[in-house]
Amino acid sequence: MPTIAEFTAREIEGALALWAETDHLGLTPEDEPVALSGFLQRNPGLSHVAIDEGRVVGTVLCGHDGRRGYVHHIAVANAYRRNNLASRLIERALVGLQSSGIAKCHALVFRDNPYAELFWSRTGWQLRDDVWVYSKRM
Ligand SMILES: CC(C)(COP(=O)(O)OP(=O)(O)OC[C@H]1O[C@@H](n2cnc3c(N)ncnc32)[C@H](O)[C@@H]1OP(=O)(O)O)[C@@H](O)C(=O)NCCC(=O)NCCS
Repeated sequence: MPTIAEFTAREIEGALALWAETDHLGLTPEDEPVALSGFLQRNPGLSHVAIDEGRVVGTVLCGHDGRRGYVHHIAVANAYRRNNLASRLIERALVGLQSSGIAKCHALVFRDNPYAELFWSRTGWQLRDDVWVYSKRM
């Protein structure tokens, strides 16, 4: 049974290895180790990893902007799926957000991700069809 722990700089290498082998998970420049380390320091207590026999087998990256929480990179290794691990990781993230006074959290999901329907919709997250997301890279 994997244990869940806070995601710290020590787990970055293991998380990157998991993400590299995870389907439907795209990496961006913000996933470089230095950027990730900065994100984790800026958002203590919100991101978590699942560890089994020293290996990172699950992750959730979570942060907030003082108003809303955002979850990224929810990933579970193939062999560990359908055992509630992602749900446990998300729960830890949400507890951390609540402790920080944040009452609402968003998950931005690509429309072609099959897990959008399979996971988010079945774990109590409300699908929004009333918003567009506009993004700009500087
Ligand atoms: C999405 C993902 C994180 C789910 O991890 P997980 O640990 O298997 O999820 P959980 O066991 O907590 O699933 C909770 C519930 O979601 C639903 N669910 C999750 N994965 C499912 C699947 N492949 N098929 C059908 N239902 C699924 C089920 O209702 C499940 O409860 P149940 O097993 O009791 O029926 C994992 O499949 C993954 O890493 N996918 C690739 C990465 C990715 O696309 N991440 C972004 C997701 S939008």
